[in-house]
Amino acid sequence: MILVNEARKQFTLQTKGTTYSFCVDNEGLLRHLYWGKKIEHAEDLECESLNEVSTNDPVNEITMEEFPVYGGLLYKQHCLKMKFENGDRGLYYKYDGYTVEDNKLTIHLKDKYHPIAIDLVYLCHEEYDLVERNSVIHNQGDKKVTVEQLQSAQLHIPKTDLTFSNVHGYWGAEQKKFEQQVSYGKILIECRRGISTHHHNPYFILHDQANEDQGDVFFGALRMSGNFRGVIEQTQYGETLVQMGLNSHDFEASLEAGASIESPVLIIGYSGSGFAKMSHDLHRFARETIMKSDEKMVLYNSWEATEFKVNCEDQIELAKKAAELGAELFVLDDGWFGERDGINNGLGDWYVNDEKFPNGLNPLIDAVKGEGMKFGIWVEPEMVNPLSQLYKDHPEWIYHFDEVVSDTSRGQYVLNITLPEVKYYILTMFKELLEKHDISYIKWDANRPISQSSNNKQIWHDHILAVYDIVEKVKSQYPDVIFEACASGGGRIDYGALTYFDDFWTSDNTDAYDRLTIQNSYSYIYPIKAMRAWVTDSPNFLSKREIPIRFRFHSAMMGTLGIGSHILKISAEEEVVYKEMIQEYKDIRHIVQEGDFYRLEPVTSNKYHAFQYNYVDESLLYVFLPQTYIGHEGARVKLKGLDAQARYEIVVCGEKSIKSGAYLMNYGVKFKLVGDYASEIIKLKKTK
Ligand code: DGJ
Repeated sequence: MILVNEARKQFTLQTKGTTYSFCVDNEGLLRHLYWGKKIEHAEDLECESLNEVSTNDPVNEITMEEFPVYGGLLYKQHCLKMKFENGDRGLYYKYDGYTVEDNKLTIHLKDKYHPIAIDLVYLCHEEYDLVERNSVIHNQGDKKVTVEQLQSAQLHIPKTDLTFSNVHGYWGAEQKKFEQQVSYGKILIECRRGISTHHHNPYFILHDQANEDQGDVFFGALRMSGNFRGVIEQTQYGETLVQMGLNSHDFEASLEAGASIESPVLIIGYSGSGFAKMSHDLHRFARETIMKSDEKMVLYNSWEATEFKVNCEDQIELAKKAAELGAELFVLDDGWFGERDGINNGLGDWYVNDEKFPNGLNPLIDAVKGEGMKFGIWVEPEMVNPLSQLYKDHPEWIYHFDEVVSDTSRGQYVLNITLPEVKYYILTMFKELLEKHDISYIKWDANRPISQSSNNKQIWHDHILAVYDIVEKVKSQYPDVIFEACASGGGRIDYGALTYFDDFWTSDNTDAYDRLTIQNSYSYIYPIKAMRAWVTDSPNFLSKREIPIRFRFHSAMMGTLGIGSHILKISAEEEVVYKEMIQEYKDIRHIVQEGDFYRLEPVTSNKYHAFQYNYVDESLLYVFLPQTYIGHEGARVKLKGLDAQARYEIVVCGEKSIKSGAYLMNYGVKFKLVGDYASEIIKLKKTK
């Protein structure tokens, strides 16, 4: 609910459990008042007049502004920095009214000296306890202006000594969660690579000694891929500031007369009861307002089995076996096009390789469909190999500096997809592919960062907008086609990609044990339904670790199940397990994909990994014991989110019993797994 008190010039966003409030202060600045646990009477919040602390600590510096701009006595992080034709760079905004439209509040600001209008947009998602913020800058004059820095929002957390959390990593090692004490000085996370976010992810979590169920957690996730920046700063004045938005590293946007630029949207929330509520709010918001409602299909992807060595016959063999095992979607990965035999050729030449597929793709597609599956295909539209025909025809289409040799990475260049002719080429490629073939699923990959980015510093952001635009355009013509985002594994997992894509490749690291860590971190911010996980061969291609088939399945069944192993090489016994587990996944996937996810801490042993899913009257408890150790203890795990009064039927390692929700949540479930890489899915159902 949006509340406006005109007399006090106070604006309040009330969600189910939180309040976010700000006002226009005596200086005409937009002053933040409060963000946190709900205060029903927001008028109780005072907008005190502020006096400078000293001449070195001016009023602007201590004012908790909603959107500090560069100019004047203001030395903190700026949300907006601009440059005008005459060389001026100072902005001085004044409040210029507001508009409310359904759940959207827009605050209008106008610069005192230049024809610049700033709109601050607040979307109130009452049911989800979330708010979305962004900013839009309008050039209302008749001269070009330059935006040098643009952030989505300034956030104020009225606490110090918080703990900051995000992930770090690299290819094959995404989502390594870390925590860092916030103190004086700044914490900066960013992406400078244009494409991917293996290294830091565009979100923040700031908490005050919180755990899964207790403690204050302030969080935010950016709806944007590519070059983002997040700055966390504890100030001398007793608060913690957070800013997120476009990375100003190598950024500059030109605004022609009448033009506007919009910052990415930042989704923010507060949980007074730890991380589980944060995850639930974000997951529900993503599932119910962003993602498609359909169940995710069990897919087979041939990449780990065949890599570039694809051909029609072998793929048909794989497809037949995949269908027999229970797969619903068959995805042909890299290698089917151009002169693609490895990483160095083919990208850009999107014609079917006629040595590998002499009669085109349709014989394979017909076979896949004949087996009752849908067909999906891999593409990497943003890239081109130097050896390709496309590059020979259009060397000027790649990002480049005129007198500098462009770098290749994975044997490829990045196309400047912001150029209309390049965008048209990619759209035509999709049209050809989708008109001529019955394709239900596109895996969109991107395997290198941008370099030699051209003279235009806006491309970092424009490139991502062009990716989104292409996906949107193709989807508008082929609304049933599902798009998977992949960037060398999990490089494009963020709320920007989640807005346009439907499926997400979590990591090229398919080791089932490593995945427990990756998937655990992933779940803090991103919904389980957006977490693709494959069962692959043992030993794993990357870790060389050998893991039994059931553990591999259980680990992959934590997300949306896929099969990536060489299924023509599995034993008859394994085949039985594949069929059984795929069927089991289909039986429980509504709980996994639509349920509330809990990260559990076993009470009696910390060597077990335990996760829970609750959906309406059903629950699942996944338990993993990677390594048995001295004593061979069992474990007890307290469940969460059940109905204390209800009775639940529970099956633990084959033994059925009926227990109350109160018992299961307060005493817990006892179980004992034996041996290395032991695992089990324990099922619960409410009884009458
Ligand atoms: C990287 C992806 O993460 C893999 O799944 C696979 O599609 C390869 N690229 C293909 O080149």
